Amino acid sequence: MGSRVRAFPRLIRTIFTTTARVVAGRKEIVAPPPIPGKLHDLIFAFRQSKVLFAACDLGVFDVLHESDAPQSAEDISSKLTTNVDATTRFMDALVALELLEKTKQGKSWLYSNTEMAKQFLTKSSPDSVDGYIRHSNQLLYPLFGGTGSMAYTLCQYYPNMKITVCDLQSVVDSAYHFRPSLEDCPNQGNVSHVVGNFFQPDLPKADLYVMSRILHDWTKEKVDLILSNVFKCLPSGGCLLIAERFLNKDKTGPKSHLLQCSICLCRWRERNEQQQNTSSF
Ligand SMILES: C[S@@+](CC[C@H](N)C(=O)[O-])C[C@H]1O[C@@H](n2cnc3c(N)ncnc32)[C@H](O)[C@@H]1O
Repeated sequence: MGSRVRAFPRLIRTIFTTTARVVAGRKEIVAPPPIPGKLHDLIFAFRQSKVLFAACDLGVFDVLHESDAPQSAEDISSKLTTNVDATTRFMDALVALELLEKTKQGKSWLYSNTEMAKQFLTKSSPDSVDGYIRHSNQLLYPLFGGTGSMAYTLCQYYPNMKITVCDLQSVVDSAYHFRPSLEDCPNQGNVSHVVGNFFQPDLPKADLYVMSRILHDWTKEKVDLILSNVFKCLPSGGCLLIAERFLNKDKTGPKSHLLQCSICLCRWRERNEQQQNTSSF
């Protein structure tokens, strides 16, 4: 014990002098700034979704609902025929996401559904969104997506999804210039490009249509036509996601949006948020 105590100052001195030598011999090492929490959350958000999707696929919430009492990880794993250790970690992840509760009984930890899981995630509940969650995990997404940058980002986060980028002939013709390499985007094979015109009713079929920065500069009549064409193609239960940036109240910003050449040079029908909310879509 005594020799260990004496060894400490020597160890600290050694670390200190070694570090000083390393710093003296090299350029100063500047630590990168920490990733902002919001960005970090966005980067990792898909992991949370994936845990939820896997729990629904395995039927975790149903297994817990079917038994009267909370269950141990061993009980759950034997019903799901899954590995016990992996199941324990998986149950704990679901507790961290506040989808399950964990209580101690004697020496065992037991798991049960939270009220939210009972109401929305068990198949037998009248409010169940289980089908919607499974559906969300494997969708076909066509987009009026220009050269496809959003599509190539999406395919990295959702590797099971088939994505079709739909645009005018001239844009589809040049899209291959913008295809990322296999090395940069291993799932790029899930993205295809087709010619389509949103003023025509024969758009490619999809479960979800994403229209990003499409509606903002068309007149009310044109917007109605585009939306009715998309609506005609939507299957029952299908969705349309609209993503837009709005000008501020007096239409003097945001600058990056204001200066977009399509707005400045072409039609100039840009709306602010208030106008968007009171228009027909
Ligand atoms: C502002 S860009 C938005 C591109 C992409 N969605 C994004 O968020 O980056 C508008 C896109 O709509 C396409 N577009 C314009 N008229 C169209 C039409 N009639 N049918 C299909 N696409 C059209 C353009 O070629 C362009 O790629």
